Amino acid sequence: MKRMTRVALVTSGGDCQGLNAAIRGIGKTLFEKLDNVEIYGMYDGYRGLIEGDYKFMEAKDFSGILTMGGTILGTSRQNYIPGKDIVDDEGNSVIPDMLHTYNRLNLDCLVIMGGNGTQKSAKLIADAGMNVITLPKTIDNDIYGTDFTFGFQSAVNIATNVIDYIHSTASSHGRIFVVELMGRDAGWLTLNAGISSGADVILIPEIPYDLEKVAALIERRKRSGRSFSIVACAEGATSVHEAVLDEETKRKNRENSHHPTVSYAIAAELERLTGQETRVTVPGHYQRGGPPCPYDRLLATRFGVAAANLIMERQYGRMVAIQNDEITSIPLEVAASQTKFLPIDHPMIQVARDIGICLGDA
Ligand code: F6P
Repeated sequence: MKRMTRVALVTSGGDCQGLNAAIRGIGKTLFEKLDNVEIYGMYDGYRGLIEGDYKFMEAKDFSGILTMGGTILGTSRQNYIPGKDIVDDEGNSVIPDMLHTYNRLNLDCLVIMGGNGTQKSAKLIADAGMNVITLPKTIDNDIYGTDFTFGFQSAVNIATNVIDYIHSTASSHGRIFVVELMGRDAGWLTLNAGISSGADVILIPEIPYDLEKVAALIERRKRSGRSFSIVACAEGATSVHEAVLDEETKRKNRENSHHPTVSYAIAAELERLTGQETRVTVPGHYQRGGPPCPYDRLLATRFGVAAANLIMERQYGRMVAIQNDEITSIPLEVAASQTKFLPIDHPMIQVARDIGICLGDA
């Protein structure tokens, strides 16, 4: 009788495209290669692990899900204290409950699919003695140690499509449009979608913007006969005035502003500076929805297969990653150590500048 391998799958944090493709990649590989395997799907992220709420998954559960958006297991966000603990709403540690479920199911390993916060909390779970393998997923592409996360390319496609559609109405009315894109404090999504869709201005958190400079570009466009302008603005974009403030003051200023988000503040100021009618479009969670694009289906499948291989090799405490188009894995502590912001000397930023896109700083 071959030794039984018991694995639990967890999808944690904000969802994104490709989660089901990754789940499928893990499950199919394990059922294909192991004679004795039990796979449990934890419901709603860490909640399922904490409360022992799970589904025993059969081989058929991994079929027919490749193209589905979201996660068949459900997900949730869980509070954690960086480097210290994972806690409930009252601040009590939930790690003992996680360990209880882990031991009760006699698990060999948890496979946790998550973004930046999840990599950090997964490290805490590993520190508590559980075997953990993680996969990097997020539309933000901000996980350290991997060139790409799954979900990112699908979101770039959607955000690009949004701006493509905005172009015609902006042009008909001769308006400025500020399109606010997700990405938290990193500009990967906005930069990629902005270049792909031909935005005239791209504002990302890594480069504080000066709206006088943006207005000057818009005026130049008007003088040369281009009556409309498109500003792709990251939700975390920061002005040069805000950039010198501490986080707390910045947060308070934003709370006291009557603008719901940064793009509304930018639009109001651009309208004042240029006298041109300005509108805002915020596609929001639409960017995280729907089926994964082929690139993400492929990446998530490659990651899922790699995670299954790590399980079979009993290599734990690692995050699967892609570097220079090679699938690899890195220690979880490295992945959890920092956020991958867009380096301001990134070649893509230079590409944007070379074709005359205004990044708000010149
Ligand atoms: O991290 C993914 C992400 O979609 C960010 O781009 C965005 O800031 C955030 O999650 C939105 O979170 P929620 O789904 O909790 O509103």
